[in-house]
Amino acid sequence: LTIDKGNHRHFMQKEIYEQPVVVAQTLKSYLRRLENQVAMPDMDFDLTAIHRVTIVACGTSFYAGMVAKYWFERFARIPVDLDVASEFRYRDPVLEPGGLALFISQSGETADTLAALRHCKANGQTIAVVVNVPTSSMAREADLLLPTHAGPEIGVASTKAFTCQLAVLAALAARFARVRGLMSAEDEAGIVEHLAEAPAGMNAALGHDEDIEAMAHLVAPARDVLYIGRGPDYPMALEGALKLKEISYIHAEGYAAGEMKHGPIALIDDKVPVIVLAPSGPLFDKTISNMQEVQARGGRVILISDAAGIAAAGEGCMATIEMPAVHPLIQPLVYAVPVQLLAYHVAVLKGTDVDQPRNLAKSVTVE
Ligand code: G6P
Repeated sequence: LTIDKGNHRHFMQKEIYEQPVVVAQTLKSYLRRLENQVAMPDMDFDLTAIHRVTIVACGTSFYAGMVAKYWFERFARIPVDLDVASEFRYRDPVLEPGGLALFISQSGETADTLAALRHCKANGQTIAVVVNVPTSSMAREADLLLPTHAGPEIGVASTKAFTCQLAVLAALAARFARVRGLMSAEDEAGIVEHLAEAPAGMNAALGHDEDIEAMAHLVAPARDVLYIGRGPDYPMALEGALKLKEISYIHAEGYAAGEMKHGPIALIDDKVPVIVLAPSGPLFDKTISNMQEVQARGGRVILISDAAGIAAAGEGCMATIEMPAVHPLIQPLVYAVPVQLLAYHVAVLKGTDVDQPRNLAKSVTVE
C-alpha cells in the first residue's frame, strides 16, 4: 500500500481534509441510522455492571479522553478517572473490582499506554481500547476493541485519528447513558442525528481554511500563544496549543478560561496572541468575560465561535474564525478543524518540517 499526498502539500494537510470522510466512515460502525440507535460491538461483559471508568492515554489521544470525561459524566453520570499514561502507571491508582479501563491510542503501541493497560488488566479491570490500528498490541489485549477507521495517519501530529476517537467516544457515552437508564430511546435518536451531522459540520469548518491561512501571520511571529476554553473546549484549547507547539515550535499553552486569572493573565501583552474557543451556549458569557479580561490588558484575541457568538463578541478581536452552529456534542469535532488548520498554516509560514517535526516520533514505543 502506497500512500501519497494527493494534491496536498503535506500529509498533515491531507489528513485534516480527510476528516469528514473518515469520521463518517468511523460513525458507520457505531450508528444504526435506520433504527436511530448507537451500535457497539458485542461485549462479553455487562456494561450495566460498570460503575467507574478509568481513561488513560498520551498526547492528543489523552485530550480525546479528556473530552470523553465530560461526556461520560454528563450523559451517563458515571465517575471517570483520567490520567496520562506515564503518570498513571507509577502513581499506584486505586482500581476497584467492576471498573472499566479505557485506553485511547492511534497506534495501539505507545509504550506507556500499553504498560498502563497491562497494569489495569492485572488488577481486575475490564479493558476497552479505542485504537486506529486493529492489529496493534492494545487491540489484541483488549476485552472490547472499539476501532477508529481513520486509515493510516502519516503526519506525526495527530489530526484525523483524534476526531475519529471523539466520534467513537461520543457513541460510547450515549450507549453508557442508555444502559444506565439515563437516556430515552428518543434522546438516543437525537444523539444519532447530531453525530451524523458531524461530517457536514467539519466540512463547513474546512470552508474557512483560506481565512485561517490569511491570519497565520498574526500568530507566526509570537513567542508565546495562549488558548482558552471552558467545558469540552478546555481540552480543545489544550489540543490547539499542543498542535501549535508540535509543528511550529511556538510555545503555546492551553488553559481553562476561568483559571486565567490565577496565573497566565500575568503574561498578557500585545505580543501574546490569545485564541478563544467560545461556541454559543451556556458557557459562552463566562468565556467571553474571560476574553474581555485579556483585552482589557492589551491582549490580542482570535475568537473562534459561531455567527451568533461572533456578532455578540467579535468586535475588538484581532480576528475571528466562524464555525457552523452545531449541537454541543459535536462541537469538539468541528472546533478541532480550525485549531489544526491554524497550527498548520503557522508552521508552513515558519518553514518547519510539518510532517516530521524535530524531536518527535509518530509512535513512542519507548518509555
Ligand atoms: C506521539 C505522537 C502524537 C500522539 C501521541 C500518542 O507523541 O506524536 O501525535 O498523540 O504519540 O500516540 P498514540 O498512538 O498512543 O495515540
